Amino acid sequence: MLNVSRFDFGQIRALRRFRDADRRIRERTDQAARVVCVASGKGGTGKSVVATNLAVLRARRGEKVLLVDFDSGLANAHLLLGLAPAHDLGDVLDGRVRAPDAVVEGPAGVHLLSGGVGQPALCNPTRRELDRLYRALEPLEKEFDLIVVDHGAGMGYATITQLAATSTMLIVANPEVTSLSDAYAIYKRALGVNATIRAGLIINRAPDERSALGAREKFDDVAQRFLKNTPEFVGWIPQDDAVGRSVNLRLPACLSDPDAAASRALFAVAAWNGLDCARTSSAFFRRARRALR
Ligand SMILES: Nc1ncnc2c1ncn2[C@@H]1O[C@H](COP(=O)(O)OP(=O)(O)O)[C@@H](O)[C@H]1O
Ligand SMILES: [Mg+2]
Repeated sequence: MLNVSRFDFGQIRALRRFRDADRRIRERTDQAARVVCVASGKGGTGKSVVATNLAVLRARRGEKVLLVDFDSGLANAHLLLGLAPAHDLGDVLDGRVRAPDAVVEGPAGVHLLSGGVGQPALCNPTRRELDRLYRALEPLEKEFDLIVVDHGAGMGYATITQLAATSTMLIVANPEVTSLSDAYAIYKRALGVNATIRAGLIINRAPDERSALGAREKFDDVAQRFLKNTPEFVGWIPQDDAVGRSVNLRLPACLSDPDAAASRALFAVAAWNGLDCARTSSAFFRRARRALR
């Protein structure tokens, strides 16, 4: 004879387990920071300028923001923020300090985890070293609302595995053909490792709107033709002496000269809704570790 009550209880227990697991997953994702990776392919396009201003502007809005300077070995975000952190990613990798203890607070309440300067292990990390580093960085995701990763030039392992793990990337390019070509290469690579990535394009250091929009069009034409995909156009930032002055002042332009044309453009970049929607379906650094395999 069918024991109806036992059957029902079994179902109820299964449903409860399902509901609890679902709640745990939701809680985990709700807790995990949104992540945006700032990349360009080519060096010197303005990634660090964009990443620092973006992080500061978001922090000023009341979000708990962490900027991670992943320009391994050639870090400079601390200079742009006027900070001299005692520890950096190299110390975290070596296990000298826990990641949360390497984080320092900067202007407008932004937080920074500095990259190392001239540390061989960070310049060319092995898979095993990156795995160790990502694992050490995992606890940071619960502490912040938004993590902005400032990448170095090129397509090193660290950049590619993080592009594989992120939901959102910002590509910073200049209007010159060489810069657009490198930006296209990183976009292509990002789509190759992460077909659902949401990408935003910023044209930086444009002499005027016409050249910025022309550059965007060139990028989109090629991307559409060969990748059947185009990034969203987040905006353009003019070539502006205020940026160079702000670098020398060691204070992001959005704070040192908020009325400058570049600063106003950076405000618009920080308002991109891709940053509000950025999510990883599971923790970012765990996904990056998986991408290492
Ligand atoms: N919109 C801009 N106008 C003028 N100079 C800029 C602008 N954006 C960046 N720069 C200059 O370019 C230099 C390189 O920028 P940076 O953000 O360090 O590049 P990346 O991180 O891509 O290597 C900065 O020192 C800054 O002086
Ligand atoms: Mg940089």
